[in-house]
Parts: sequence; C-alpha cells; structure tokens
Amino acid sequence: MQTRLDKNGAAKIAADALIILAFEENAPAVAADLYQSGECKGKPGELTLLHNPVGFAAKRVLLAGCGKQDAFDAAALRRTVGAAVRHLKSKSLRNVALDLESGDVSAAVEGAILGDFEPDRLKTDPDKSGNKPLESFTICSNSATEAALQRGVILAESQNFTRDLVNEPGNLMTPTELANRAKAMAAESGLECEVLDRARMQQLGMGSLLAVAQGSAEPPAFIIVRYRPEKASSADHLGLVGKGVTFDTGGISIKPAEGMEKMKYDMAGGAAVLGAMRAIARLKPTIAVTAFVPTVENMPGSRAVRPGDIITSLSGKTVEVLNTDAEGRLILNDAITYAQRLGCTHLVDAATLTGAIVVALGHVHVGAFTNNQALLDKLQTAAKRQGEKMWQMPLDDEYKEQLKSAFADLPNIGTRWGGSITAAYFLKEFAEPTPWVHLDIAGTAWLDEGKPHLAKGPSGVCVRTFVDLALGW
Ligand code: BES
Ligand code: ZN
Ligand code: ZN
Repeated sequence: MQTRLDKNGAAKIAADALIILAFEENAPAVAADLYQSGECKGKPGELTLLHNPVGFAAKRVLLAGCGKQDAFDAAALRRTVGAAVRHLKSKSLRNVALDLESGDVSAAVEGAILGDFEPDRLKTDPDKSGNKPLESFTICSNSATEAALQRGVILAESQNFTRDLVNEPGNLMTPTELANRAKAMAAESGLECEVLDRARMQQLGMGSLLAVAQGSAEPPAFIIVRYRPEKASSADHLGLVGKGVTFDTGGISIKPAEGMEKMKYDMAGGAAVLGAMRAIARLKPTIAVTAFVPTVENMPGSRAVRPGDIITSLSGKTVEVLNTDAEGRLILNDAITYAQRLGCTHLVDAATLTGAIVVALGHVHVGAFTNNQALLDKLQTAAKRQGEKMWQMPLDDEYKEQLKSAFADLPNIGTRWGGSITAAYFLKEFAEPTPWVHLDIAGTAWLDEGKPHLAKGPSGVCVRTFVDLALGW
C-alpha cells in the first residue's frame, strides 16, 4: 500500500472513497441532512457510505462515526480508520483517502495499515476472499508532517511483520525458519544478528532450554539481534526477551486435541520482539537494545524431557520438570540469564505463557508482572500512548510457597491456583536482581474473532509498546 500526505484540501482529492470523521456534536457539512433525519448520529463504529458527494472529487464519502470529540483519542482514531479501511476494501475500493484536519497522523496511518492486514498468505487465490489489499492511502492534512507519517508506517509495517510470523503454521515456521526470518530482517534493517545452535548452547550450559528442545526432530535456535545507537543517552541497555515456541504440543504432558492447532502462536512473544527491533532499527532510539529469542518446538518425541526429570539451567539452578507443558518458562529462564551476562541493565519479556492469564484477564489486557515498579510504570506509559492495554498482576513472596521442590531448587509449576503468577514468579527467580517486566500475552496475541478494525488471527500486540518504550527512554 502506498501512503502519502496531501495538502491540497480533502475536497480536491480524487479517490475511490474519502473517509470523513463524524463526531456526535457537530455534523460534517456533507452530512447535515443525514444528521437532521437521524440516519447518521456520529456514534462510534457507525459507517455511512455516500455516493457522488456534491463538492468532492472523490467518488464516495465514508462517514466514520467517532462519538464525542473529547473522548476521541489516538487509540480511537486508529480503530476508526482501521474499521473504515476494512469496510471499504470489502467493497473493492482500494484508493482511499482520509480527511484529517487535526489528530495524530501516525495513529491514523497505523489504523489503515493494520486494518489492511489479512492472514491469507497461504491461500492460493486470496482475491476470492475479497481481501485484496489497498493500493493507496492518502491523508489530507495541512498540519501533519512527513516524519510523523513515516513513523506510523514503520510501526504498523513492523507490527504486520510480526503478525505474518505468528500466522505461519508450525510445519513452516520452525525454529530454523524463525532464525532465518530474523537474519533476513536484520540484514534488511542494518542490525546485527547472531544465532546460537544446539552445540553452542550445550557448551554454554543452557540445560533448561535444551531439555525442552530434545523431544523434537527440529533443532532449537537462540536468536540474538543487536541495535546500538550512534550516540547513547545513557549507559542503560534494554533486553527484550520473547518466547519462541514454534509449536506447543505440551510434550509428554500432552495437550488435548481440541484447539491444539492454535499452539502455532506460541512464538508470538518472540515475533513481537523481532518486529519491535525492525522498527527500532529505523526509528533509532538513543538506547542500546538487544533482542533474545529462544526458539524450540515442544514435542513428545522419544528423547523428550519426562515429568520428574531434573535439569540444570544456565544460571546453575536446578529445575524439576513436573509438567512438560510448562515449557515457556524453561526456555525464558536461560534467555534471561544469558541477557544478564551480555550486560542488559533492564529486561522486558513477552510470552504466551499461561492459559491462566486468559482466565484472569480474558482477551482484553496483557498481564504485566514486575520486580521493579519504575520500569513497569515506564512501560505502561508507552503502552497507553500506543493504545495497548496492560494490567498489573501481583507478584508477592507468598506465591513462592507454591514453588517448592523436594528434589531440585525449583519445580516448573505451582498449584492450579494463580497459575499466571507462579509462572511469573518462576521467571523472577532468574531475573533478580535486574529490573524486569514480564508480559503474559497468551490472551491477547491471537484474536479468535476479527474486529471491525482488525482481521481474525495474530494481533501483533506489544510491538508498538516496545518501540515506544525504547524511543521514550
Ligand atoms: N503455551 C501455553 C500457554 C497458552 C495457553 C498460550 C493458551 C496460549 C493460549 C503454555 O506453554 C502452557 O501450556 N502452559 C500451561 C502451564 C501449566 C502446565 C502449568 C497452561 O497454561 O495450561
Ligand atoms: Zn505449554
Ligand atoms: Zn507454550
């Protein structure tokens, strides 16, 4: 999709359709009659298509309801534009413009690019589903800058890069393939990428990660992507860690058949971290950022790790594997230890870690855990700016009582209760004393149903927040 700014006035733009924002309290001139008759009220989500609008060069005007003006923020603009774009493309209208006198041009173009995304790469005839992408998206605004537009393009295209990775099924998106995609992205973005293979991980002593990998014929990989600023504003070094389980069968503690196909999205945290690096390379924050993506396939092969096995992690701590389906924490702990050894001063991890977070927060909020309130506050500020919802969960020491093993330093699971918290607590035991935030995205990385502004499937959650965090450091 081509994106551009236009300063000649919305009335003059020749497009298949011009989107006009319609607020409740004042009717756009072209909609005065519709407001009077009550056909159009400017309610959020309302879409009204007008043909051959008088006074416009565009063939159609799409009135996009926005609700009350003072409640209409960047997040609402992103959603409104996304829903309008999806409505228009479903009618094969592919040259679209937006009248945006004031408002966040980055959020607007993000809405368009995110709304345009379809998870249909593997359909032989995507046209049939009526989902052909837009050809052009033009924003008519006199105040917007090209830099703000480009920022939105980079953020949204990077988020779609993540969504593409997450959408690929387990047979295609193996750990090796994820590493190859990371290398290609890094090369194209001017970043440094290093991939540790099994032999190197054995040498280092990543016994926890390797235990998860040993049940699969697919070799594991440990992806490291580095961004270094030309001129750093501080000595801080941000480590972004993402869970990269390309398929989670549960291993020997195998999952039920129903819904198992969705476990291809168990690398969404890793994909989010890689998408964020793609944008960071282009937007150039003044802080050093390194991404760590441990990637494995969790399979019940004849060499698979067994319940009761005791493994030694990179940190030296021993772990009793009581459930092989709690594998995410077994790869993240080694990644966290490795990130500390490479000098990261602050850590943020993203992982589709527990079903329990879906029970707690549904599909709305990311679950956020921390050992350092200031770091989480900083991340929350970035998330709010980006319209990504995150909810802080508790992490006090009383939960530690669930993490006692008779035979090793730690078990890899607690009881049935508070499962997302004991999972986070397990990670905290490795993250200490580094300031660290853990984001459980099991409920938010995949949309079971499409939304007016987003297709069904991978959401790309956390990408924009991570980039915003680095830019605002
Ligand atoms: N990948 C799953 C968590 C998950 C569940 C992600 C639903 C997305 C949607 C994780 O590896 C897992 O299986 N966790 C177990 C932990 C349990 C064995 C303590 C779970 O949540 O059931
Ligand atoms: Zn699992
Ligand atoms: Zn998993």
